[in-house]
Amino acid sequence: MCGIVGYVGKNCCADILVDALSKLEYRGYDSAGIAVFTENGIQITKSKGRLADLSAKMNAEGKPQGTVGIGHTRWATHGEPSDTNSHPHRGGANVTIVHNGIIENYKQLKEFLIAQGRSFVSETDTEVMAQLLDFYYDGNPVQTIARAMQEVSGSFALGILFTDFPGTIYAVRRESPLIVGVGEAESFIASDVPAILKYTAQYYLLEHDEIAVLTEQGVSFCDMQANTIRKELLTADWDMDAAEKQGYEHFMLKEIHEQPESIKRTVMPRVENGLPDLHECGITPETLRQFRNIYIVACGTAMHAGMVGKYVIEKLARVPVIVDIASEFRYREPLIGEGDLIIIISQSGETADSLAAMRLAKKLGAKTLAVVNAKGSSVAREADMLIYTHAGPEIAVASTKAYMVQISVMYLFAFELALAKGQIDEAECRRLTALLMETPQYITDILAHKETVEAMAKPLLDAESLLYIGRGLDYALSMEGSLKLKEISYIHSEAYAAGELKHGTISLIYKGMPVIAVDTQKKLHEKTVSNIKEVKARGAVTFLVCGESYQPDSDIADYCFRLPEIDDLLMPMLAVVPLQLIAYYAAVQRGNDVDKPRNLAKSVTVE
Ligand code: F6R
Repeated sequence: MCGIVGYVGKNCCADILVDALSKLEYRGYDSAGIAVFTENGIQITKSKGRLADLSAKMNAEGKPQGTVGIGHTRWATHGEPSDTNSHPHRGGANVTIVHNGIIENYKQLKEFLIAQGRSFVSETDTEVMAQLLDFYYDGNPVQTIARAMQEVSGSFALGILFTDFPGTIYAVRRESPLIVGVGEAESFIASDVPAILKYTAQYYLLEHDEIAVLTEQGVSFCDMQANTIRKELLTADWDMDAAEKQGYEHFMLKEIHEQPESIKRTVMPRVENGLPDLHECGITPETLRQFRNIYIVACGTAMHAGMVGKYVIEKLARVPVIVDIASEFRYREPLIGEGDLIIIISQSGETADSLAAMRLAKKLGAKTLAVVNAKGSSVAREADMLIYTHAGPEIAVASTKAYMVQISVMYLFAFELALAKGQIDEAECRRLTALLMETPQYITDILAHKETVEAMAKPLLDAESLLYIGRGLDYALSMEGSLKLKEISYIHSEAYAAGELKHGTISLIYKGMPVIAVDTQKKLHEKTVSNIKEVKARGAVTFLVCGESYQPDSDIADYCFRLPEIDDLLMPMLAVVPLQLIAYYAAVQRGNDVDKPRNLAKSVTVE
């Protein structure tokens, strides 16, 4: 998604803006630009492509000299990636803006503005917003913003320069996240904390329909009626190291290696006397006993974490769980109400579909539990109950450590629920909790053998298409393995329940087609092996991820990665690691931009 930054201070603004934007690159973008107050008015430099292209252009055209400005990385929604569609956009003589999100009624507004004699140079909804602000400009920026906000719908965040106020940045948000950082005689706006961490760890969260005013003297906030708002100053609890690669070739590899620590940070504080204890998250045995049905609603990888949650909760607690894709859930008139629990899983806590699904669930009377990584995000703030995952900042677009802590929380939750419902006794709950706490060590051991996985990924260099198969929890994992591979290697792949293949999809198997089979569930082992044999007999090249007690023959596996074994129920915590690494190494050897795959954005704040 688009990234916004802004700087007011004493230093060279262009350098700071580009540096801050580089920390938002992980969000995905296809063009970038900055606008700076200079002696000759606002100077805009913008360019299609990467920040390096923007810097090259600035070097060629002359770096804008000034200490106040705004910057942007654009992930195209309205109009193709191009210099013209890049931000910042001018709205006549008075206004220059950067924008994240969507102005939903931009067409009507554009028609209105055209009828007023205005013309447009870009295809963007952003330029419509800029022109609208200019149209209502009355010499008072706050009043102007408030007036324009009455006319727009959608979810968005804006950084605004008014030509008449050269020392000031204005910002406003509706739904889309925006923070305001404060340092020594300087302040910042940004879409996310990593952008400002190098300069300050202190920030305010701008709330829905609030306006921020930043000057060298400090920052102030007001509502749409210009009433002053006092806000709590927050301190980011992670440092620059967390937002840097620290010697790893890619953030994704670093984040895969951070998984053991992320699990410890997420699980350990929620274990008391050997048993899960989620009361600080608003969850007690009494509350848990109330729920008849559970829905887990999320998108992408977070939804796959929910799939693991479903298997574990149903098996242990015997409570029915429906896993729903958030964008489907919200439009299918879900049959939910009092007595139901909706679990929203989200790394960013800003995913538009997940947020909307949660709001709908609340409206229908269900209780909501958020499992979220980003502190203070919208999903976190609006849920009835909240379990923070402590993965730390996830910079790579492809989610790894966030998935790992999401499934860790699913386990903790399932253990506590099963105990509360009397489905397992304390001894069993303690046993499972102890095993969960052992998983970081197992993962560390697996990572010590990553070269084996690297070798396994070599045959995928020229693969056009492949299948992931598994049964039960291994099917849930296959879905995640397949998504990971698709998003960063650009190899087409599908995940299939192994037993379902013969009902149609097996016709796709051709000689040499790679099939990755996940086989960690002992109870299902014989069945999965039969399915592997079916594809092998039809010429597939098979890659097996299984427990170490299984020694497959060559008629089962051409390549094999054997995992240390713990209770089958917890095997997803281990088995996902080689799947992440296969995707990673396949993408690296294909020369792809692993951390910023094409067309993707880290935080999806549009529908
Ligand atoms: C894939 C990935 C996405 C996200 C999805 C939901 O690696 O990261 O599929 O899982 O966009 O995002 P959050 O968790 O922020 O709601």
